[in-house]
Amino acid sequence: MVPSSAPKAWSQRFESALHPAIAVFNASIGFDIALVEYDLTGSVAHARMLAKTGILTPEEGEILVQGLEKIRAEYRQGQFTPDIEDEDVHFAVEHRLVELVGDVGKKLHTARSRNDQVGTDIRLYLRDQIDQIRIALRQFQSALITQAEQHVETLIPGYTHLQRAQPVSLAHHLLAYFEMTQRDWDRLGDVAKRVNISPLGCGALAGTTFPIDRAYAAELLGFGDLYRNSLDGVSDRDFAIEFTCAASLILVHLSRLSEEIILWASEEFGFISLTDSCATGSSIMPQKKNPDVPELVRGKTGRVFGHLQGLLVMMKGLPLAYNKDLQEDKEPLFDTVATVKACLEAMTILVAEGITFRPQRLAAAVASDFSNATDVADYLAAKGVPFREAYGLVGQVVRTSLAAGKLLKDLSLTEWQALHPAFEADIYAAIAPQQVVAARNSFGGTGFDQVRAAIAIAHATLSPP
Ligand code: ARG
Repeated sequence: MVPSSAPKAWSQRFESALHPAIAVFNASIGFDIALVEYDLTGSVAHARMLAKTGILTPEEGEILVQGLEKIRAEYRQGQFTPDIEDEDVHFAVEHRLVELVGDVGKKLHTARSRNDQVGTDIRLYLRDQIDQIRIALRQFQSALITQAEQHVETLIPGYTHLQRAQPVSLAHHLLAYFEMTQRDWDRLGDVAKRVNISPLGCGALAGTTFPIDRAYAAELLGFGDLYRNSLDGVSDRDFAIEFTCAASLILVHLSRLSEEIILWASEEFGFISLTDSCATGSSIMPQKKNPDVPELVRGKTGRVFGHLQGLLVMMKGLPLAYNKDLQEDKEPLFDTVATVKACLEAMTILVAEGITFRPQRLAAAVASDFSNATDVADYLAAKGVPFREAYGLVGQVVRTSLAAGKLLKDLSLTEWQALHPAFEADIYAAIAPQQVVAARNSFGGTGFDQVRAAIAIAHATLSPP
């Protein structure tokens, strides 16, 4: 909408109104309205602090609080709809407050600046969002555990360099993502400590002449600490960058799993089929079933990385203290939050009900390659043959078997013994896929006992005693 030349809160310093296009350019109300409830909560705490310290009377404090809560009710009913003339959410709230409670409303901004105010709002917002994202991470982990429990003894080729390496328990593979997202959950908890520090009372940049009680306001808002330097308090956005970095890592993990699911769903791999609830069709090729969900997650990852880069670049040249550049922190944060939540939700559904593993294809895959070659070398090494020598012998037998179109399990005992006299009839059991996996029972390995223990630990992590 085209702004009128209605006076601004700061207008008496100015002789004429902002150019309409500049008013639009300058305004953040189009997006920072998302902070309105946090702005109200922060203002309520500020008003209570002003009353407690005697800067305002108790009656004035109460009128402000009631007015602010009235705005909250209006907002929730869709009746608080500020426009561009209000510039930003802070002015919008103050403007409406004065409309509602009269001149007392003009006292709310005593001993405060929009600079410490917006810093407070953003922190309250992120604190909430971090809680929600951590819950979403837990739901994703829970879906992983449920799948893992069904597939402890299902084998899947394990790869390095995307070349078949050694078979692993499918549960072990899925639980690798549990571990990654557990780090994500921990990391967000750590970031939350630095989000949860109050800048309120830092004023515009230098503190205030009023006898405020910062600790009291911070306590009302549930902050764990106070910024100790007002210049830092109003201009620090490290916490926003840390959050976006933590969010980027969550998406790295979701994107890696997405990539695997896309590969597994291909005819070439054929390890999973996509259920109808999470796959889409083609507009022209009737046979297609496309993995749009993991593709979108993989694709959306890029924009969150972009937000991280954007915030870093936004900050790097800023002199102390507040600069309007900081208004540009909001859209990247909001989009990061929305993207991470949407991707976690979609991936949770995908893991829980969007994919079905194909046991026969998986069993055929692990039985039809040379991924038990290490086990032949280990077999000899366990019988005293130096590992490097055993490795050389097995390389030789892989080469001749490939040429003969055979697998290791197809070699006769005579052929094995021609290679080395230490081979006995138990070589066949030692190289069977189930045994190959079961035998890797070192801590953190894919052996079934290890995997069962890991599932128990994962459960305990989600529901601590
Ligand atoms: N809308 C502004 C922002 O998001 C609020 C702070 C404005 N402060 C100022 N000194 N102009 O950063």
